[in-house]
Amino acid sequence: MSFGHKNLFGLKDLSADEILYLLDEAKAFRQILERDIKKVPTLRWLAVVNLFYEPSTRTRISFELAEKRLSAEVVNFSKSGSSVAKGESLRDTVNNILAMKVDMVVVRHSSVGAPQFIHRATGVPVINAGDGTNEHPTQALLDLYTIREKFGQFNGLKVVILGDIRHSRVARSNIWGLKKLGAKVVLCGPKTLLPPNPDVFGVEYTTDIEEALAGAQVVNVLRLQLERQQSGFIPSLREYRMFWGLTAERKKLLDPDHIIMHPGPLNRGVEIDPDVADDTDAVILEQVTNGVAVRMAVLYTLAQKLREA
Ligand code: CP
Repeated sequence: MSFGHKNLFGLKDLSADEILYLLDEAKAFRQILERDIKKVPTLRWLAVVNLFYEPSTRTRISFELAEKRLSAEVVNFSKSGSSVAKGESLRDTVNNILAMKVDMVVVRHSSVGAPQFIHRATGVPVINAGDGTNEHPTQALLDLYTIREKFGQFNGLKVVILGDIRHSRVARSNIWGLKKLGAKVVLCGPKTLLPPNPDVFGVEYTTDIEEALAGAQVVNVLRLQLERQQSGFIPSLREYRMFWGLTAERKKLLDPDHIIMHPGPLNRGVEIDPDVADDTDAVILEQVTNGVAVRMAVLYTLAQKLREA
């Protein structure tokens, strides 16, 4: 197997071949999702916990469906309503769940490095479902899958990541993945919402949305993360839309053959206009569908590594 990791912490750790391996595996699982019976018995032996310390709709349901469609046993944990309110630590919480004979952890947490911490503390395989502002690897894999489905490959594609890049783990995972696969990545947003040291990513960046969008094949519009912002990053939501929102008028600058992406949830009328989000060139719900197949591929691949160990 051309995948050399026991965990999925981030795309920064993976080679181009490993990313393509997961995308190829996802293609087979995507076909299963088109069948009347969308379930295979492959992971009947595996028990997985989905450990969500932060809110989620797409990622959490997508992982749960992926696990169930592989016939794994699934248990869901969310911070609200748990003994975290009584002061239980992350390590103790995980160890107690694992004591009930759980084999694999999917985790979303506000702290960067929480997935690595859990793996070090327990030795079980961990899939990162989003750690702070660091990485969201399965989101980037489903984004890459969706781009490849449309364009066939990545070489020379101009991909604009637009908006709140500073707070975005989706942006970071996309940057690592897209660069490895040969796309030309352009970051665009207000100066306050670009990363503090954008040069470390080795990609282009600009505050000029017209320059960024010119001739691009892909725009990945990011959610303005109001919950992670202290005051002062943007003057107002109205001005944000005026200068950096994706509108029908601005879309005219793109290559005629283009797609509009968004990881969700959407702030309609802020980073993306409703008519843009709902137009036929927007692949936002296709991304969500592809996410189940991508997560099936990740779970299956790491389960195979666990079996080999
Ligand atoms: N894209 C994404 O991570 O969405 P959720 O926060 O709803 O999981």
